Amino acid sequence: MTIDPAELATVAYEVKDGIAWVKFNRPEKRNCMSPRLNRQMMRVLDELEHREDVGVLVLGGEGTSWSAGMDLKEYFRENEAKGLGATRQAQRESYGWWRRLRWYQKPTIAMVQGWCFGGAYGPLFACDLAFCADEATFGLSEINWGILPGGGATKIGVELMSFRNAMYHALMGENLTGPQAAAQGLVNESMPLAKLEARVTEVAKVLLTKNPVALKGTKDAIRRASEMTYDNAEDYLIRAQEAANSYDNTGRKEGIKQFIDDKTYKPGLGAYDKSKAAKK
Ligand code: ACO
Repeated sequence: MTIDPAELATVAYEVKDGIAWVKFNRPEKRNCMSPRLNRQMMRVLDELEHREDVGVLVLGGEGTSWSAGMDLKEYFRENEAKGLGATRQAQRESYGWWRRLRWYQKPTIAMVQGWCFGGAYGPLFACDLAFCADEATFGLSEINWGILPGGGATKIGVELMSFRNAMYHALMGENLTGPQAAAQGLVNESMPLAKLEARVTEVAKVLLTKNPVALKGTKDAIRRASEMTYDNAEDYLIRAQEAANSYDNTGRKEGIKQFIDDKTYKPGLGAYDKSKAAKK
């Protein structure tokens, strides 16, 4: 099946030095998420997930917006006019790629340079780490146009923010600046826009030095453990490490060896040289 070039163009991406730079690419519509963008994003995630030359994925936005949330015209109005089936289909497409991103094989970083509203909290939370520009603007604007924060946005608010902050944020429809979003837990750090890409690159490069099997095990464990009792988490983590060993049992042994025998690094102060294990 041939895909409309306009649909393909809704997402831009390039792979450079182990990092996949993926961008929402509807700047003229402030990167709001249309069904076409949602379908294309899933295709791009599919293509990049298991590529050997991709170790980290960064999700950014072209132009002045990271993403202005769901496309009120193409996602809501036009689908509602078609009926329930079309609405459910559009929900599956958007929720589908956010879920895919939440459990992505590679570590993921949201790089938020501008507007980030409503539905955009889905991919924001789906990314493992998030960095933003001081100039960025975050808002649960749903209340401003007469709906509740659906599509996971309410859940994300309570996952990332305190009860009081989430309630205020959702009820008032007031926006947060980058530094406020960092203070309230929506992102890891905020910095001047001019420094954002360099900082994200720096973080991605550190992640590229780590054992990839351990990275996937760790990111899943952090997401899963928050919903488990202590005993369930303890059990899950034992099984998760044992499962990880079945994919890579030499990496951690090499990590111990380089510290205890070779004395070439200290785990408390940095990562082992994984390239040595790969050569064996
Ligand atoms: N849905 C559909 N179209 C949108 C959206 C959106 N979410 N956001 C922007 N656009 C369109 C505008 O209609 C406009 O289209 P046009 O050029 O054909 O008139 C174009 O993008 C540019 O938008 P402007 O409003 O002119 O851009 P500006 O830079 O002045 O403002 C801002 C940017 C603040 C992001 C504004 O566009 C806005 O408020 N967008 C809606 C944000 C929002 O509340 N999103 C929904 C969240 S709730 C949810 O996702 C479930």
